[in-house]
Amino acid sequence: MSTDEPLRFNAVSLLERLSQWKESESLALLRQGLAAFKAELALAVSSCPADASDGASVELGRRYLERELDQIAAALTLERARYYLERLIRAISEVRTGAINDINLNRWKEYEDLLTDSLWLIDRRDDSGAHTAGYWGNFIPQIPNQMMRRYTKKGDWVLDTFAGSGTTLIEGQRLGRNTLGIELQARMVAYAKGLIEVEPNPHKVVRDVVQGNSATLDYHELLARYGQRSVQLVIMHPPYFDIIPFSDDPDDLSNAASVDHFLTLMGTIAERAGEVLDRGRYLVVVIGDKYTRGEWVPLGFQVMNAILDKGFALKSIIVKNFETTTAKREQKELWRYRALVGGFYIFKHEYILLFKKR
Ligand SMILES: C[S@@+](CC[C@H](N)C(=O)[O-])C[C@H]1O[C@@H](n2cnc3c(N)ncnc32)[C@H](O)[C@@H]1O
Repeated sequence: MSTDEPLRFNAVSLLERLSQWKESESLALLRQGLAAFKAELALAVSSCPADASDGASVELGRRYLERELDQIAAALTLERARYYLERLIRAISEVRTGAINDINLNRWKEYEDLLTDSLWLIDRRDDSGAHTAGYWGNFIPQIPNQMMRRYTKKGDWVLDTFAGSGTTLIEGQRLGRNTLGIELQARMVAYAKGLIEVEPNPHKVVRDVVQGNSATLDYHELLARYGQRSVQLVIMHPPYFDIIPFSDDPDDLSNAASVDHFLTLMGTIAERAGEVLDRGRYLVVVIGDKYTRGEWVPLGFQVMNAILDKGFALKSIIVKNFETTTAKREQKELWRYRALVGGFYIFKHEYILLFKKR
């Protein structure tokens, strides 16, 4: 859930303790109790303090809990301290989630790694488990991870219209979301399936990649194969037009006849995938811009408009950095020199466009 170190407690005894503090006669006594508890916490071992052996247990992040305790101790009045205690009691005893994700709003402070800013500076690709940077043009797993955690619940269905090496499916498997991928190239379908098999499937979700053209595929029929009528999230990570030629297949979006043709196809795919997306749910497009003959082609904004034309509501434009880690230092310097001579800027960002189905 978060990068915070998890500590497990017996829920009943922890709640009893917090309730007792609420009855403290003075702020000084309450602070004494809190200080003793913090000292215990300092000795607690990740996820298995002795007192979690019986009864229902609850997991709390160490940093989160320490900050909550500090806030209670720093309260200037007993009344205020009781208010903070009550909030912590609620955070432990009640789960409050919204309609489209499983974020426990009573403990929102624990989700430290869930991004909420429109600028994403991510310096490291998640390369854990089956994730590999081996497919030229795949996205970092953090993208589908963030999107699924914010815009789906466990057990929901996610559709990836350009599955590539299966990054979305691997993440879905970890997060307990069912995922279906469509991929044009048979060799990539086999490759993605291989990676999915390597990754454990602890939540026993469906995850499958089918070979097909997402511009013409029958989405209703595809879902019916899995006993579904709709999905709760669509992820689209198309070729950025012709920047990377993915295959010789004329149906490959990287072989589109022109930018306009590419945009028409993107609009069609969003519209058709949108037909099986539940109302009020999200469609995500990951796309970058390109240069053609010295001119910046704003593919990102053009794709955004093509999808807005299909009636979706725009929720966010996220700008995400990317680093060409494989480029050698000399190459980077050469590009910098060319940029200075040619008066242009080197691409260091791409877009994550977020739409909502009305
Ligand atoms: C940018 S990559 C997606 C990478 C993927 N997100 C990953 O992490 O591996 C785009 C993929 O779209 C596929 N593709 C291109 N045209 C397609 C089409 N019409 N239908 C389905 N897939 C297509 C390409 O073969 C390529 O694998």
